[in-house]
Amino acid sequence: MGSHHGRLSIRKDPFGTTPEGDEVDVYTFSNGRVTISMLTWGATIQRVETPDRRGKTKNISLGFDNLPDYAALSPYFGSTIGRYGNRIAKGRFTLDGQNYQIPINNGENALHGGTIGFDKKVWKATVVQTDEIVGVTFGYLSPDGDMGFPGELTTKVTYTLDRDDTLRIDYHATVAGKPTVVNLTNHVYFNLAGEGSGSIDGHVLQLNAPSYTPVDAGLIPTGEIAPVAGTPFDFGKPTAIGKRIRDDHPQLVIGRGYDHNFVLGGDVDDDGLRFAARFWEPEDGRTVTVHTSEPGAQFYSGNFLDGTFQGIGDKSYRQGDAFAFETQHFPDSPNHPNFPSTVLRPGQTYTSTTTYTFGTK
Ligand code: BGC
Repeated sequence: MGSHHGRLSIRKDPFGTTPEGDEVDVYTFSNGRVTISMLTWGATIQRVETPDRRGKTKNISLGFDNLPDYAALSPYFGSTIGRYGNRIAKGRFTLDGQNYQIPINNGENALHGGTIGFDKKVWKATVVQTDEIVGVTFGYLSPDGDMGFPGELTTKVTYTLDRDDTLRIDYHATVAGKPTVVNLTNHVYFNLAGEGSGSIDGHVLQLNAPSYTPVDAGLIPTGEIAPVAGTPFDFGKPTAIGKRIRDDHPQLVIGRGYDHNFVLGGDVDDDGLRFAARFWEPEDGRTVTVHTSEPGAQFYSGNFLDGTFQGIGDKSYRQGDAFAFETQHFPDSPNHPNFPSTVLRPGQTYTSTTTYTFGTK
């Protein structure tokens, strides 16, 4: 799809009030073809509406139509994740000789920043609009000791849509007072045939990842960087997600499917990004292509969705009804010196960029 000249627009509407009395808004921004709704609750992507091959527009992102369901039920649908995406073993790490404990919320481990992560905070929103892009900057100030993490963290995440149907996410953080660890991502779940439309087994995935980080039974990386060649983790050639998901491979048993950090291949381009993945749904033809500055990405095939609640379209979400592709530094990096570092020190700036380009094929 080439550039087009639709009108860039953005509007703000009330979405609800938290039990603490904080008002939550929904911002809806569009380029006339792709329309994205985001909540100030968790800086959350609520809806992503894109046309299919025939021009029929559907919402392809899992979510809810009300705030109480987000607060009570959401497995991070569309959430901005912080301070630390994915798991930290037993919630513990040591930095400069100091021990830190993050509250446990996933088996014996800490997941996505602990019990009350950035996904459950109300962010401050500022509209961004130029001739080329439209979107929102979300800001959140996390105090020293928030969820056990050291240092006061100032976080800004900017979500913008351009005229070429690319949603760009720019993460920015600085820490004051103490060094800390940071690993921000977004947890949008897609079903390119439309949310609530059933399994993503038929979606075709191409993944730029020569290796991945195998995990133990608690989904904590063992520390090994394993080549994907010859395994069901090799998506170098476009392959249906369901083709090998039931193969007899110990890592697929542990994850109940794909729930693994992939180590992205090659170097970043001049723009600081590298091709990470392309997903394609052959029936309706929608594609989403991901580029990122991050060294890794969690490919999660929606294994823990269990049909116990309904989403925005009043359909139950069952196992394998969506995928997430969370660009990131590797899980549990604070406990693995051989992984790229997630340490951020006062005076340094954390930046990270990911783009999702929507199209059809
Ligand atoms: C994790 C999964 C988890 C999912 C939803 C993913 O990032 O790797 O294990 O179930 O997030 O919380």
